[in-house]
Amino acid sequence: MTHKVKNKTSSIHQRILKLANKTKNTKLLKLASRKEVKDFLDLRDNPIVSEELFDAHIGLYEGYVKALNSILDRLDDISKDKVGYSYGEYSELKRRLAVPYNGVVLHELYFMHLLPGKQKEPTGELEKLINQRWNNLEGYIKDVKSTGISAGNGWVVTVYDPILNQLDNYLITEHHIGFPAGCIPIMVMDCWEHAFAIDYKTDRETYIEKFLENLDYDIVASRLKELEDDKV
Ligand SMILES: [Fe+2]
Repeated sequence: MTHKVKNKTSSIHQRILKLANKTKNTKLLKLASRKEVKDFLDLRDNPIVSEELFDAHIGLYEGYVKALNSILDRLDDISKDKVGYSYGEYSELKRRLAVPYNGVVLHELYFMHLLPGKQKEPTGELEKLINQRWNNLEGYIKDVKSTGISAGNGWVVTVYDPILNQLDNYLITEHHIGFPAGCIPIMVMDCWEHAFAIDYKTDRETYIEKFLENLDYDIVASRLKELEDDKV
């Protein structure tokens, strides 16, 4: 269901962008550059977090969509002349732009992992890359867990590095600090306290274990597959 919503949203955006480029319509171009809230209601009943926590989390996600679009609108409207490192509205908004942008994208990737896991072990290309980097699945899980426990307010993201053709786990602080340039996120785990504290209190480790127990490796593999398809 959520996949369908995602595809529908992206196809509407693609159509708007195509039309905007064809007609040189700046209003349409602006519309195509804005994010829309996606519907994750089908994931409310999930094995990792309660409905209370899920609803609160969706509210935060919607706030990031709103903040991103507000920043983009404001940047369109204000002067690009009064700028500088220490003062300037345009400068400050530019400094914050990646916060709500990644806040939206990372949450959308994360919410898809709340689906009850069907494929409990990686296969094919994903299995090969995991084994190359961590020797086996246990090594990968251990690294995700250790990285997650190290997080303050941040994320653990498994990325595919297209230059080295390998996977790695990165700890992203806030939403935008520490993301490796050019790498593609294929597994995203929210480690902010808001992602677990209502249900797990301060027990970050149990939340991470529950998340990993339910991780559907088909979803992770599908993101790798999208990259392969893009290369064709
Ligand atoms: Fe979050």
